[in-house]
Amino acid sequence: MSTAGKSLFLNDLSLSHQEAWQLLERGAADRYSPLHTLAVATVTSEGTPSQRIMVLRASDRANRQLRFNTDLRASKVADIGHDSSISVLGYHPQAKVQLRLSGKAVVQTAGDDVETAWEQASLYGQRCYLADPAPGSVVDAPTSGLDPAVQGVKPSPDQVRPARGNFAILLVKVELVEWLYLAHSGHRRARFAWNLAASRWDGSWLVP
Ligand SMILES: Cc1cc2nc3c(=O)[nH]c(=O)nc-3n(C[C@H](O)[C@H](O)[C@H](O)COP(=O)(O)O)c2cc1C
Repeated sequence: MSTAGKSLFLNDLSLSHQEAWQLLERGAADRYSPLHTLAVATVTSEGTPSQRIMVLRASDRANRQLRFNTDLRASKVADIGHDSSISVLGYHPQAKVQLRLSGKAVVQTAGDDVETAWEQASLYGQRCYLADPAPGSVVDAPTSGLDPAVQGVKPSPDQVRPARGNFAILLVKVELVEWLYLAHSGHRRARFAWNLAASRWDGSWLVP
């Protein structure tokens, strides 16, 4: 429950929108928030939906942007190369809010934002990007994909350095926010569509 207050945002579109972004901002900042991990869906080159759980790394309301980290070799990156459409879904049981967002995805491998994201990752986090062969490769035997030298121990900066080349950030430019609030007194549902021409969010109530 945010400071917006249940009774206030229930019947106020602007406060509902604010509540949605506050939950996303806390989701990125607080690893214990239920919105710290979100379901992220892309569309494959065959046109089928594909979802996976990802850690929400940053939420930027002013730029209507979410950030995730990914391995550049992951299938989600290939999906985005074919079709940048993306959908993000989460549920916060304490706040009783489901958030469904959609927009366009961009994958970045270089630049200040990527360097900062890489530096913010722990050595254990950076180690994930060392997998060889690439994530999703078919192999003959069960494996973590990691060299035994970096398994079960804290890797050194030298050991994880080669992983940087496999690291990328996935930015979601949000175009639509759908907010569903569950309440015994009556559910509430609202959608907020980004109006590009007017540079503003257009909100409407929906029947839950
Ligand atoms: C709790 C949890 C958090 C995860 N966080 C990430 C993440 O931040 N980035 C990521 O690329 N994969 C993450 N994964 C793994 C993905 O769910 C997925 O298995 C992997 O990225 C391969 O997905 P793809 O082949 O669809 O690209 C996470 C999985 C779990 C269970």
